[in-house]
Amino acid sequence: MMPLPTSPSSSPRLLRSNSSEWHAVVQQRNVRSSLLLLLVLSTVFVFSVLYSSHGFGATTADQALTQRQSTDHGAIDRFVPGQEEADEPTVVPAENNEVPEQSLPSDISLPSANTSTAPAVPASSRGRAEQTGDQSSAGAAHAEEKCDLSIGKWVREPRGPVYTNLTCPTLPDFKNCQKYGKDPGHLFWRWLPDGCDLPRFAPERFLDVARGKTLAFIGDSLARNQMESLLCLLSQTETPTDVYRDAFDKFRTWHFPGHNFTLMVMWTEFYAHGVPVLGADGKPTPSFDIHLDRLNANWTSRLPGLDYAVISGGNWFFRVNYLWEDGRRIGCVNCREPGLTDFGIAYAVRRVVRAALEAIARCRDCKGGLVTFLRTYTPDHFEHGSWFSGGYCNRTRPLEEGEISSQSIGWELRRVQSEEVTRVRETAGSTSFELLDVTKAMMLRADGHPGGHYDKRWVRNASDCLHWCLPGPVDMWNGMLLQRLAHISPQPLL
Ligand SMILES: *[C@@H]1O[C@H](CO)[C@@H](O)[C@H](O)[C@H]1NC(C)=O
Ligand SMILES: *[C@@H]1O[C@H](CO)[C@@H](O)[C@H](O)[C@H]1NC(C)=O
Ligand SMILES: *[C@@H]1O[C@H](CO)[C@@H](O)[C@H](O)[C@H]1NC(C)=O
Ligand SMILES: *[C@@H]1O[C@H](CO)[C@@H](O)[C@H](O)[C@H]1NC(C)=O
Ligand SMILES: *[C@@H]1O[C@H](CO)[C@@H](O)[C@H](O)[C@H]1NC(C)=O
Repeated sequence: MMPLPTSPSSSPRLLRSNSSEWHAVVQQRNVRSSLLLLLVLSTVFVFSVLYSSHGFGATTADQALTQRQSTDHGAIDRFVPGQEEADEPTVVPAENNEVPEQSLPSDISLPSANTSTAPAVPASSRGRAEQTGDQSSAGAAHAEEKCDLSIGKWVREPRGPVYTNLTCPTLPDFKNCQKYGKDPGHLFWRWLPDGCDLPRFAPERFLDVARGKTLAFIGDSLARNQMESLLCLLSQTETPTDVYRDAFDKFRTWHFPGHNFTLMVMWTEFYAHGVPVLGADGKPTPSFDIHLDRLNANWTSRLPGLDYAVISGGNWFFRVNYLWEDGRRIGCVNCREPGLTDFGIAYAVRRVVRAALEAIARCRDCKGGLVTFLRTYTPDHFEHGSWFSGGYCNRTRPLEEGEISSQSIGWELRRVQSEEVTRVRETAGSTSFELLDVTKAMMLRADGHPGGHYDKRWVRNASDCLHWCLPGPVDMWNGMLLQRLAHISPQPLL
């Protein structure tokens, strides 16, 4: 069967109940300037109906905060629609109501039902590379690196963030938490690595280092979140020009003419080729068929021309997804179907990260000096529920070290990602691979999400404890990126 566009589409029932509200809303707004917001919110809205109709249960705060591995596979059934449900015509992913005929890609949609309640990773899925030590990626391979930026603590920063909602013209409304009343406490922290410093982000320095270069964030809505952060940070020095947006707003390009720096974002949920599983009615379900031996050409075809690529990912693997190889379905993730092996999230993530890194390492048309960064997994911080079941994240300061767990699936995904970077370095030719290891820092930032602080005219009863407010802790990722870039190209040539 021909794969349909990966756009999520709502069930007829859900669509009918929402569409009139949507069209009213659309008429009130300047459609073009609100496109991004509409995409986010239409998706969120449909998800709200979808998930609330499935009666997600609450998790304990402890589970939500620590993401402890659990052997309670029942939990996943409450958070990720099961196969039986997925086959029901009424259960399908979100749809953009603004483009009724073309289903809209799930560009900025919610990656998964709730990553906090991920089931334990079955022993069978543990990779062979498991033996590698946790710090395998740091230090050894890069002896010149004096300081491991990934280990440290959040300390008070009385100066607050580099930009505000008044100084960032591109700040998306959905991340403008201050506008919607979020406690400003989360703004006054900076990441202090053990044994060294991560300097305050200097936009001028970044633009000097990146002069004449092209950088792309490749991945899901969290990759976009980092792009939005970098746009805000850099716009303190130079106003970017919006030069390209594809029809679905999945691929976007900005240019800083004064520094000839090009910034892109490219959408891919899985890096591998993923197509929505169709329900009995022929409509896409929330599940995907992931072809482990085939990459999504939407991003690989755009690699040539890049000087820097930042890849990430993981959150979309918490759904019920099916794994394919050689045109054959070999198993699944999070399914509970007799005769089908559940390989676990970490296995699937390892396979696609490996495939993506190897493809970049082998890329013949890519620039010789291409540097690829893997930004490690970041968890959500839902407490007492999920997106649409009353979950919240209203803390006003970072968690304490003792409140996070190194037993979580998030930590395991980070380990898988860093091991794969180490692995590809051994085979890479002229391209190089770096890690932006933000997992621990972000595990601590339960206070950095929008939660319920967004425009309630769009979605009334949802909470976003996965994405990050702007300004906010996500800005640190770009601080780390700048440190690495400055290290790689310390002498910008003018
Ligand atoms: C590639 O992008 C197009 C347009 O955004 C989209 O319709 C298509 O589904 C994407 N392909 C995959 C495999 O994601
Ligand atoms: C910016 O944030 C302040 C709170 O810090 C809020 O009062 C104001 O409405 C916001 N303005 C814009 C344009 O987002
Ligand atoms: C800008 O950078 C691109 C490479 O990204 C280069 O091809 C082009 O010549 C540069 N333009 C100027 C005016 O320096
Ligand atoms: C919002 O969700 C919570 C949790 O499901 C529920 O108790 C509450 O009644 C909902 N509020 C509205 C206005 O729907
Ligand atoms: C966070 O929200 C919960 C539930 O609404 C409430 O019980 C708690 O007091 C709130 N905490 C803070 C710090 O506002």
